[in-house]
Amino acid sequence: MSTPRIEVVSEIEDLRRHVGRWKAAGDKVGLVPTMGALHPGHLSLVKLAQSRARRTITSIFVNPTQFAPTEDFDKYPRTFEDDCAQLAAAGCDMVWAPTARVMYPDGFATRVQPTGAADGLETDFRPHFFGGVATVCSKLFLQTSADFAAFGEKDYQQLCVIRQIVRDLDIPIEILPGETVREPDGLAMSSRNRYLETEQRQRAVTIHDVIQRVASAARAGGHEHAIADGIAALGAVGFTPIDYLVVRDAETLKEWDRKSGRPGRVLAAAWLGKTRLIDNVAV
Ligand code: PAF
Repeated sequence: MSTPRIEVVSEIEDLRRHVGRWKAAGDKVGLVPTMGALHPGHLSLVKLAQSRARRTITSIFVNPTQFAPTEDFDKYPRTFEDDCAQLAAAGCDMVWAPTARVMYPDGFATRVQPTGAADGLETDFRPHFFGGVATVCSKLFLQTSADFAAFGEKDYQQLCVIRQIVRDLDIPIEILPGETVREPDGLAMSSRNRYLETEQRQRAVTIHDVIQRVASAARAGGHEHAIADGIAALGAVGFTPIDYLVVRDAETLKEWDRKSGRPGRVLAAAWLGKTRLIDNVAV
């Protein structure tokens, strides 16, 4: 049996030609933006996009503008051949893989800088991050003219920021949220999990256990103690620093008021050795 292949496109004119043909045939187009190093979480987003669109594009671009100079841009895992094989097997129609020159040609000087949902949490620790994400995603939406784009709830604040920029900039695309895909022990799948050493990997799941305990406590009406216990539990297995462990309003990401009856979200970010893990669950 021959291995399935997938169309890989790296120039905007080629992308537009393909998409133009699909749209002329009346096909809806779904986009899954990624930085590659694909895992089952990404493939679940491809499936989600396929449930709404006849054609799916997965973009693979390790976006330099969302990394600070001190971060892991250079060592971010790049597994392009394997990613393409997985996408072909999943029935994705195209990989959009622009080079940095295509995405940010000489003279590029525009930045989409979100506030609102982007305020606090990740921004307190990675102030450059959402400007880079918002800029590249705005470009991806315009480049592909996709009707739908699938984003994982694993990066919950990112999902809120993307919804906000689509709303604020009147971008004609529907955002599809995809549930977090977890390892059997509960650890959220992430391309960065491969940085974890074997013994760190065993302890990593504590972040998921802790946010679940905080969510149960929040439902029962008192999460302050659970947050203090959770910080201690993370510290005890070697998470340091703990950037945040909070309960927020699931839509605005501002303080959560249980009495409002609005949905809440527990969000956490913490370092285990040189790996920063983030996770969240609904209250
Ligand atoms: O979540 C990611 O992988 C990235 O932030 C994204 C959305 C592909 C933008 O570079």
